[in-house]
Amino acid sequence: MEITIDLKGLQPLIANEEISRLELAAEAAYKTLINKSGKGNEFLGWVDLPSSTSAALVSKLMLVAKQLAQISEVCVVTGIGGSYLGARAVIEALQHSFASLLPAKGQPIIIYAGHQLSADYMSDLNDLLEQKDYSLIIISKSGTTTEPAVAFRMLKSHLEKKYGKAGAQQRIIAITDKSKGVLKQLADREGYEQFVVPDDVGGRFSVLTPVGLLPIAAAGFDITALLQGARDMQQELTSKASATSNIALQYACARNACYQKGYFNEILVNYEPRLLYLTEWWKQLYGESEGKEGKGIFPAGVSFTTDLHSMGQYIQDGERKLFETVLSVTDSNRQLFVPNDTENADGLNFIAGKSLNEVNHKAELGTFMAHRDGGVPVMRIVISKINEYSLGQLLYFFEFACAISGYMLGVNPFDQPGVEAYKNNMFALLGKPGF
Ligand code: PA5
Repeated sequence: MEITIDLKGLQPLIANEEISRLELAAEAAYKTLINKSGKGNEFLGWVDLPSSTSAALVSKLMLVAKQLAQISEVCVVTGIGGSYLGARAVIEALQHSFASLLPAKGQPIIIYAGHQLSADYMSDLNDLLEQKDYSLIIISKSGTTTEPAVAFRMLKSHLEKKYGKAGAQQRIIAITDKSKGVLKQLADREGYEQFVVPDDVGGRFSVLTPVGLLPIAAAGFDITALLQGARDMQQELTSKASATSNIALQYACARNACYQKGYFNEILVNYEPRLLYLTEWWKQLYGESEGKEGKGIFPAGVSFTTDLHSMGQYIQDGERKLFETVLSVTDSNRQLFVPNDTENADGLNFIAGKSLNEVNHKAELGTFMAHRDGGVPVMRIVISKINEYSLGQLLYFFEFACAISGYMLGVNPFDQPGVEAYKNNMFALLGKPGF
C-alpha cells in the first residue's frame, strides 16, 4: 500500500491503551458498514465505486474530456460542496502550480464557479470568459442548489450569446440525478451531454463518480490510475476486519481517542501547497459527516511551513484542545538542490547541496517534535509521492475512515440536516414562494 499511518507522536499525551480500548467499537462500526446495516445505509454506493465503475463509463468520460479539450482553453466547473471539492482537490494536487500562466498543453485550464455568490467573482469570471474559448461542466445532484444554479443561469446565457444556442449546447455537460430535479429537466430539454450522480452516493463521497472524474479527466489527468489506487485501497480496507491491521480503523480509533480526551479540533497539516484543496475536501468530508447532534471533531487545516508563521503560534502555545494529522509526502516529484554560494552572505551554506525536499522534511520533523512537546498529539499519514494512484488511495482511505469514525461517534455519517438552516432563512429573505 502507498499509505502508512504513524501514531507514535500521539504519545505520551494519548496512551496506546486509550487507542486500543476503542478497537472493539471500530470493528463493530466496520461490520455495520460492510453489512450495510447502519444509519444512512442507503448512501453506501461509494464503498464499491472503485471496483464497480465500468470501463465503458471511464472511456466515455475520457472521450468527452477529449472533446472538451478540442474546443476549450478554459473549462468552468460549476458546483459547490461535494459537487466541486473532490475534483478541485485532485486537479490542484496534480497540476503545475502555475498552470494558468504557462502555455496551454492541449488541456483546458479548469476554473470554478457556483461555489459562492460573489458578484465580484462572477464579474471577473465574465471578463475572463469574454477572452477565452470555454466549456462548462454543471454539477448538481439535487439540481436545485442555489449557488451553482445562479452561476449556471448566468454562464448559460453568456455561452449562448457567445456561441449561439447550438454552439452552447456542444459546450455544456450536465452531471446530475438520473431522473429528478430541474437541472435534469433542463439538460434533457436542451439536449446536453449528461452523466449521472448515482442515487446511493452523497455529494462529499462522490469524487470517484463523474462528479470528480470528468473534471479531472478534462484537466488531462489519468482517471484510470486514480481509480486503480482507490480500487487497491478498497481491496485492502474491505478485507481487513481487525483494527490492528486496518489503517482506516486505526485512524478512526486514534482520532476518537483524542476527541474523548478533550482534543476537539483536528488539524490536517500539509507541507505541499498543492494539497490545500485536498485539505478543503477532507474538511467537508469530516465536518459534514460528523458534526451533528452536538458532537464531532472540528476539522481544520493548515499548510506548513507557510502557516507556521501565522497559526504556528497558536498551535504551539494556545489552548490545548487540538491534535494534528500530518499528511506527509516522502518524495517530491521533482528534485531541487540548495546552491552553494562562495560569499555565503546569507549564512545558508550549511544547507548547500541538500535537496529542498530534505530541508522541507527537516522542517516537518522539527515541527512535529515542537508541537508534540508543546502538548499537541500528532499522528502522521504518509504517502510516498503525489500522483493519481496515491491520491486514489488517499481519497478512498479518508472516506472509509470517515464512515467508521462517524459510526463510532453514534451519528449518521451520510446525512447533512444542518445545511438546510441557512437556506431556509436566505430563501425567506429573498422572497422565494413558500418560505
Ligand atoms: O456533500 C453534500 O451533500 C453537499 O456538499 C452537496 O454536495 C452540495 O450541497 C451540493 O449539492 P448538489 O450537488 O445537490 O448541488
